[in-house]
Amino acid sequence: QQVPVITIDGPSGSGKGTLAKLIATELGFALLDSGALYRVLGQAALKHSVALDDEAALAAAAESLDLRFEVSDAEEGVKVILEGDDVSRQIRTEQAGATASVVAAIPAVRTALLQRQRDFASLPGLVADGRDMGTVVFPRAAAKFFLTASAEERAQRRYKQLIEKGFDASLPVILEEVKARDARDMGRAVAPLKPAEDALVLDSTQLSIEQVREQVVEQLNRLG
Ligand code: C5P
Repeated sequence: QQVPVITIDGPSGSGKGTLAKLIATELGFALLDSGALYRVLGQAALKHSVALDDEAALAAAAESLDLRFEVSDAEEGVKVILEGDDVSRQIRTEQAGATASVVAAIPAVRTALLQRQRDFASLPGLVADGRDMGTVVFPRAAAKFFLTASAEERAQRRYKQLIEKGFDASLPVILEEVKARDARDMGRAVAPLKPAEDALVLDSTQLSIEQVREQVVEQLNRLG
């Protein structure tokens, strides 16, 4: 039986992670936060002193990545476990995001993680969020969304999030980082960040997450 997959792609800070969680909970579907895989790989590379330009070693590290997602209580959400250690907090820093986008630009790394991502698809269904869920990983997905927002708005949201989590943050620095990560994610040769041809593009700059959710649910109803 074909597993229904819903893909939500977009740049960092577009709200796709929050949206994916909402939709997965609503439908009782599994959730794939594909960015977490690249974030964990980046942290594994730093931990084992693998140079971020050593493509062969990074691809090997991706192949053998000892990563688990552990569903804990609802409040804490999903725990991310690397080699037995809880790295859930460590992978959420802006630095970890930047490291992730460096290793994610390597084609052999992406190939190594492809099957692992597809294995998340199981009944009753999957909501997958990332950069290339609709274009590369699940090209035959039942419904595809591309969520975007202006760089300024995304930097502002990211700043608020970091402060709420107790991290230090500077808005102008974050805006620069957001723009740098966009450029790297959109400019890379493999699986660049772009909407799939059959994706519904939603701009959340002026919308609340609730308004975005409504549009997604409407589209899902339309598709049946
Ligand atoms: O979504 P998140 O911000 O956690 O992703 C971190 C980085 O991982 C992104 O900037 C991007 O370079 C990379 N990534 C990717 N493909 C995905 C998900 C994330 O290249 N499907």
